[in-house]
Amino acid sequence: MIDKTGTDPLFQPLKLGNTELANRVLMSPLTRSRASQHGDVPNAMNLEYYRQRASAGLIISEATQVSPQGKGYAFTPGIHSEAQIAGWKAITDAVHEAGGRIHMQLWHVGRISHPDLQPNGETPVAPSAIRPEGAMTFISADSGMVEITEPRALDADEMPDIVEQFRIGAINAKKAGFDGVEVHAANGYLLDQFIKSGSNQRTDDFGGSLANRLRLPLMVTEAVIDVWGKDNVGVRISPTGSFNAMYDEDPLATFGEFAKQLNALGVAYIEVVEDSFQGNHAEGRPESVIDAVKNNFEGVYIANGNYLAEEARDRISKGRCDLVTFGRPFIANPDLPERFRDDAPLNEWDSGSFYGGDERGYTDYPFLEKTEA
Ligand code: PHB
Repeated sequence: MIDKTGTDPLFQPLKLGNTELANRVLMSPLTRSRASQHGDVPNAMNLEYYRQRASAGLIISEATQVSPQGKGYAFTPGIHSEAQIAGWKAITDAVHEAGGRIHMQLWHVGRISHPDLQPNGETPVAPSAIRPEGAMTFISADSGMVEITEPRALDADEMPDIVEQFRIGAINAKKAGFDGVEVHAANGYLLDQFIKSGSNQRTDDFGGSLANRLRLPLMVTEAVIDVWGKDNVGVRISPTGSFNAMYDEDPLATFGEFAKQLNALGVAYIEVVEDSFQGNHAEGRPESVIDAVKNNFEGVYIANGNYLAEEARDRISKGRCDLVTFGRPFIANPDLPERFRDDAPLNEWDSGSFYGGDERGYTDYPFLEKTEA
């Protein structure tokens, strides 16, 4: 086979912090809700799924709760117990053995939860007691989708504990053998709830002004950097996302400033959810917001959201992004980089098996047939 990778923008290597990436076809964080029911522990089926996808330039793990309070859906994995660390260690070993790289996404869901998922049936926490209208979760295999109820506003004196939850998650991710971590500050979960004006109506040091809304996400990022070093830390944002009833009155100003502060902290990358099948206030990609992030940030810019190979090549070539994370294409194509390289046809994804279930729609998507050389 002719080597077509020579000039293909998707196959130019890149150093992301301390991690050498062999290609720019990255796997985005994807909630699949298939951890073991008891203890939220990653299992052998999860290992097989990640091992199959080790040819990604980098895998970013599914969102992983840093604490019992940070959990918002049935069957999502955690990184706060010894059993979870051991489960993840087996996965990172398998990915490394297969030549891959993997970061862990550190997650606290905030208000996107349910008392049935919380320790002692407690009310989920948020910056403000605002119910995300229309947002849903599922609390067990047979609950179906249930509506999110009104959360409890965190007290200011609880913020150090939130930071501590992320710090412990970061320490545990290191024990579990990851190459780095991504702080989840997107998609309507706790840190995004603090950042965006629609969900943060606090009047103390953690709300009101933009500087105050960014305070907790920056404290968390600093704590994670203390554990990992700035070169191994990224942050995910979704400036114009509407999923989970999110809204910000000025995403350009908000995320331009957040990018500037993250640049000062020196994080290796920002991953930007530019568009999403789960909802976006922008029409297509929000180019002016993307400019605001890029103009304020000297690190690596990772683009995400409804990408396929051609658009990814085009935008990398034009300097609109450095790397691209692919979600649904990676669900359905474990060998996605090879398919992009060879212009091979893609398997179609089955949205009915995205969340929860067994091997079907998870580890049974076919690889390309290997032909003898
Ligand atoms: C989801 O469960 O739908 C989900 C989880 C994490 C995300 C986005 C979506 O960041």
